[in-house]
Amino acid sequence: MQLERILQSQGFGTRRECRALVRLERVTVRGEMVDDPFVDVDTADLDYTVDGEAWRYHEPSYVMLHKPAGHECSQKPKHHPAVFSLLPSPLVVRAIQCVGRLDEDTTGLLLLTDDGQLIHKLTSPKHGVLKRYVATVKHAVDDAMLKALGGGVVLNDAPDVSVAAHAVEQLDEHRIAITIGEGKYHQVKRMVAAAGNRVEALHRVAVGRLELPADLAPGEWRWFDPAEV
Ligand code: URA
Repeated sequence: MQLERILQSQGFGTRRECRALVRLERVTVRGEMVDDPFVDVDTADLDYTVDGEAWRYHEPSYVMLHKPAGHECSQKPKHHPAVFSLLPSPLVVRAIQCVGRLDEDTTGLLLLTDDGQLIHKLTSPKHGVLKRYVATVKHAVDDAMLKALGGGVVLNDAPDVSVAAHAVEQLDEHRIAITIGEGKYHQVKRMVAAAGNRVEALHRVAVGRLELPADLAPGEWRWFDPAEV
């Protein structure tokens, strides 16, 4: 593919802007400076740099973010900065979207991509992809609460349906690990409330088989392979 088209597809601007980047000698391809925007470049395992910053060709892009508290999963945030403000601008230009949403105060693993099919697969109730959270709760965890979460609780917006955790386990006096297959609005907080307690902090540790890496600090992002989910 022509180099200027590659750069455009990766979010570095319009074709004209990408052409200028190359002509201004701001781009290297596989370690070599290239000044011809029309040169044909193989996109397989392509490493390149723009202004000295290293990039790898991804079509589409799959990004995991360790979401810190105080960020909204919205393109038009109301009260806090958007999670997109934590990502480099080429990714934002490519219009990657959150795979489901985490509340402003929820931390942990957030996936973002511009692959519409993957977003659908991971969020559609039909597929029931499991999401694992650690919830810190206000009152000491007891058996009744664990039983209610595992057996099913009724949420206020759907009084006829009971929603059960796929798995729930006590971690210590005030913390549980809870796995859910749906992605309803404020689901964990509402389930815990329906079980007679209150979530004070919520952290997502895994989506499907993909876990939040221990060395990914809050606010940091990295690529992921969709096969890992
Ligand atoms: N459940 C919630 O209540 N909040 C989240 O952010 C995610 C799941």
